[in-house]
Amino acid sequence: MGREVRAGLSRPPRSISPKYFYDAEGSKLFDAICDLPEYYVTRSERALLEEHADSIVGLAGARALVEIGSGMARKTALLTKALCDRNASPIYIPFDIAPEAIDESARVLLDSHPRLRVRGVVGDFGHDFGRLAIHAPPADGTRLFAFLGSTIGNLDEEAAPALLRSISAIMVPADRFLLGIDLVKDSSLLNAAYNDAQGVTAAFNKNVLRVLARELDGEIDEAAFEHLAFYNEPLQRIEMHLVSARAQTMTLRAADLRIELAAGERILTEISRKFTRASTERTLAGGGMELLEWIPDALGMFALCVARKAVLRKA
Ligand code: SAH
Ligand code: TRP
Repeated sequence: MGREVRAGLSRPPRSISPKYFYDAEGSKLFDAICDLPEYYVTRSERALLEEHADSIVGLAGARALVEIGSGMARKTALLTKALCDRNASPIYIPFDIAPEAIDESARVLLDSHPRLRVRGVVGDFGHDFGRLAIHAPPADGTRLFAFLGSTIGNLDEEAAPALLRSISAIMVPADRFLLGIDLVKDSSLLNAAYNDAQGVTAAFNKNVLRVLARELDGEIDEAAFEHLAFYNEPLQRIEMHLVSARAQTMTLRAADLRIELAAGERILTEISRKFTRASTERTLAGGGMELLEWIPDALGMFALCVARKAVLRKA
């Protein structure tokens, strides 16, 4: 962590990896974001899952659900319900960097689905996918891999296909991949979604400073930073920054880092890319997958995609 944080912060353009948002407090704040009136993402995806989860699980012939970046897994029950309805011994494998989120979401799911077996895996999807290998594909059914919440949009043009490649590498041809995708839309809706009136997104953004100070033995004056989020139209992405409100020194001893921030200087904490069907298909193709089904909602806010590992055709 120290090395990665130093690499991101030591020189402009400064950045912090978004994976450090999700300590116990960050996971709770993100959960609160999902309920905000401005944050349409969770509601739109939930409505799509309510309508389509059963047929997606059924068409996939899935016995196991592997969820990447599962978090509090609040929409997952729609998929696990279909899985339990269709299988005698259904399996759910949440994979997340936040152990607290896996623990808590597993309890909730087990309460409502006593037959479900939950096998949580803690890891970084950037390099710990090997940890999923201990869960071999079931002999009598397929695996549905799910990556919801448009978390793929938090990865840039290189990291997104790289992650998909590491998933397709462990898929067999019968497995299916379910992807939640936030769509390009009017910028006023996008700007509102990441600048909520209650300031929960701002608190979520600033919480990463507390994580860094705690984990890397530092002092950071949270009050000296402002939340900045805006839609970058040419790049079709939200950018979320922390802006230094005044000239200040940031010290993180365990990262061997001491930097001077100028007044107004920005630290990029997250991107959230927005997609079209075409850019989704390109991203999937770059990840060794091919689109089978494109399921947008009626308002064009959000889409579910079902994909499979790309079939290699002989020349
Ligand atoms: N799937 C949930 C949560 C989305 S938030 C939903 O749709 O609401 C993104 C999730 O990805 C968080 O739970 C976070 O802990 C996890 N995450 C972020 N970076 C990660 C990484 N590098 N490796 C594994 N999980 C990560
Ligand atoms: N992937 C979601 C998105 O980009 C969730 C998310 C990650 C988010 N970080 C966020 C939402 C910060 C709001 C603020 O929308």
